[in-house]
Amino acid sequence: MAQTNGHTVPADALFSSSLISPAVTAALPEGYSIRPLQRNDFHNGFLDVLRVLTQVGDISQEGFEHRFDEMKNAVSDYHIIVILDGSQKIVGTGALVMERKFIHNLGKVGHIEDIAVAKDQQGKKLGLRIIQALDYVAEHTGCYKTILDCSEANEGFYVKCGFKRAGLEMAHYY
Ligand code: ACO
Repeated sequence: MAQTNGHTVPADALFSSSLISPAVTAALPEGYSIRPLQRNDFHNGFLDVLRVLTQVGDISQEGFEHRFDEMKNAVSDYHIIVILDGSQKIVGTGALVMERKFIHNLGKVGHIEDIAVAKDQQGKKLGLRIIQALDYVAEHTGCYKTILDCSEANEGFYVKCGFKRAGLEMAHYY
């Protein structure tokens, strides 16, 4: 167990389960559950869910665990949640990365990243629950706002989740 931001974090979990919204847990379909990403989730379908979002690559278990450890050791600013179906298979995921600032009175901003729901599980409000759960983490870790980038095709989904268009995305690719 480690103590971060006042929350106790089990050794195999990315962050404390006390940051998982009870309201979201209660709203999931019968048999489904939601929890922080765990170090053994390489075997539970986590990378397969992300493949609905983008190209993931051929990642070894060692590579997955090394990246998990890097995130876990990064002042607890990475919050990746997973939703599991009744057979304990990961069917949805999303991340909140907290950025620490000097501006806005030493403010913190939540960045929502890598939202993905397995193709055969879409349309069951799991995407909405993931966003609600990440909002809960952001509020309870002191973020003053949460932002994200998305394609035009997904704008309607985020509007349904309560977001509104603000600004313009720009990128350098390396
Ligand atoms: N456009 C408009 N409305 C949408 C869309 C869309 N693309 N997707 C869902 N909605 C609506 C639903 O109809 C529903 O509306 P309702 O409340 O009136 O019934 C509401 O949004 C909530 O939908 P969910 O059932 O929670 O959505 P789902 O579980 O299917 O997840 C998601 C949506 C995450 C976009 C899923 O389709 C997916 O994984 N897509 C592929 C990966 C992807 O594009 N991820 C987002 C990348 S952007 C980022 O990561 C920051």
